[in-house]
Amino acid sequence: MKKKILLVGSIILLVGVVGFQIIDKNLHMLQSPGAVVPNYEESDYGLRSNYVDNLKKFPSLNLGERTPFDLYRYGGRDKTSYMSLDLGMSWKEWVVYHEKQKPELMADVKEYMNSRYDFSNNPIEGVYMSGNRKQVMKGPISRLPEGVNSFEDLAQRSAEDIKAKDLFPYKPLAHPLHSTAHMVFPEEYLEYHPEHRRIDVDHDIPDNYLPEFPPPMFLTTHKEYGDITKGKEVTLGNYFEIFNGLLTPEQMEGLKELLKPTPSTFFNHTTFRVTIQPSAGVACFSCHANGHTNGAFEVAPDTRPQLARLRVGTPSMRGNYNLMQLASKRSIRSMDHFAEVEEYFEGDPGIQQAIGPRSQRRAVTNRMGDFNAILDFPPAPKLGPLYKLIPSKATEQELLGEKVFNGKGQCITCHSGPAFVDDYMHDLQVERFYTGRPEGPIKTFPLRGIKDSPPYLHDGRCMTLNDTVEFFNLILELKLSKEEKDALVAYLICL
Ligand code: HEC
Ligand code: HEC
Repeated sequence: MKKKILLVGSIILLVGVVGFQIIDKNLHMLQSPGAVVPNYEESDYGLRSNYVDNLKKFPSLNLGERTPFDLYRYGGRDKTSYMSLDLGMSWKEWVVYHEKQKPELMADVKEYMNSRYDFSNNPIEGVYMSGNRKQVMKGPISRLPEGVNSFEDLAQRSAEDIKAKDLFPYKPLAHPLHSTAHMVFPEEYLEYHPEHRRIDVDHDIPDNYLPEFPPPMFLTTHKEYGDITKGKEVTLGNYFEIFNGLLTPEQMEGLKELLKPTPSTFFNHTTFRVTIQPSAGVACFSCHANGHTNGAFEVAPDTRPQLARLRVGTPSMRGNYNLMQLASKRSIRSMDHFAEVEEYFEGDPGIQQAIGPRSQRRAVTNRMGDFNAILDFPPAPKLGPLYKLIPSKATEQELLGEKVFNGKGQCITCHSGPAFVDDYMHDLQVERFYTGRPEGPIKTFPLRGIKDSPPYLHDGRCMTLNDTVEFFNLILELKLSKEEKDALVAYLICL
């Protein structure tokens, strides 16, 4: 009997050991270490020695602490990808902290911006944005470094020389308070929406260099009305009166959703916020005013660390029906999808859950897409149906501009078709001209109606169309004459 028990016991033990080994093997497979190249030597690709080794290390900061204005010179990684819902102090201390910091910060921001740009408010004579209220500003206003006499002089130099001597006037622009970042609204907008004024930071670009507010709105379905709003900012309070009987029920609902405020990371009802009063949040049209843009900016949600996120100005929603590529880097492919993913929570679902998301039900976001789809570009009376200038309507200068655009300037390579966009992302390799972190591929933005949406490039570093032309003249090494550059600007104004 004892022997039998011993035998059965041994068998059980044996099966157990073997079984455990099999299970253990499987467990081991689930956690396989992955392949490792022996004696790994890092490839350089010309990146490390040229860029990465020259970067300073991102400072480790608390929420709300001041950040360097030249963040493009920094690199590194965060301790974590996730955001904490902790201000690091009590709400009262947070308010006092910013009451003290904000005036000093904004004085320094002003000094920095004035050192980069000459905001002397010179308009292009007789040229207005599509609402006929605001003048288009003249440039270039980016300041040239000491020792460089003109943009033509600068364009004669090589990329290596410009970089080595630190002469590039179009370096990236950071969020003025990049540790907290989030949305910053222009002064002109805040006059009517004081609930969005921040306790910690203000907009850093003068209103004259931003889009008109409120901008006109044009609909593909009602071209005959011109500006459908007749000079009004469309709100939850007036949209029904303006649009009832002109839109489909689905478009009406979509528009209402685009106007409805919902909480965001720092505009909400909790004490994790940057407004003195609790806030109902922001609506899509708080930034995309009247389906266009008011020049509000934020930082893109597509990367970490926080301090490496690119500043992004609000693009227009006009003519989105012709774009296959939405957002500067996220490559979102439809307006419905955009309305679904755009959640104002820094791409962090934890924050979204904590503060309370808006409805992302498909039926609702599809209708937001339905309204987005009928927002048209402004009229361009000098353009014919093949997107060419009508010679009898255009000036000699504008026609020269069109020729440069399609020829020596090579703009047409990336800006073509009805919206003057190719729907690709391009790596313009701007870091060849300055010491800093490469920004990588960015989507081409459309040029239809472009005079209405300063400042230019994803981060708004080019304040005028003249500056944007100087930017491309430098980075594409085009060596355009002054006459050709002025003609290009005259042409862009016609689009
Ligand atoms: C800060 C104010 C702000 C708010 C509020 C906002 N957006 Fe945007 N929107 C932006 C910015 C900035 C970008 C550029 C983002 C990027 O490059 O990744 C953008 C991009 C877009 C684009 C892509 C446009 C293009 O040319 O690539 C669409 C479409 C859009 N937003 C729709 C919406 C919708 C729908 C909502 C509401 C759910 C919304 N936005 C709320 C600022 C805002
Ligand atoms: C290789 C492709 C390419 C070429 C060629 C090109 N662009 Fe662009 N363009 C882009 C990209 C990409 C952006 C967005 C870059 C960014 O935001 O950093 C852009 C942005 C712009 C903008 C700003 C749009 C906005 O809404 O902010 C203007 C204006 C512009 N280009 C004009 C021109 C002109 C004029 C030329 C010719 C001299 C030209 N581009 C040549 C790809 C190109």
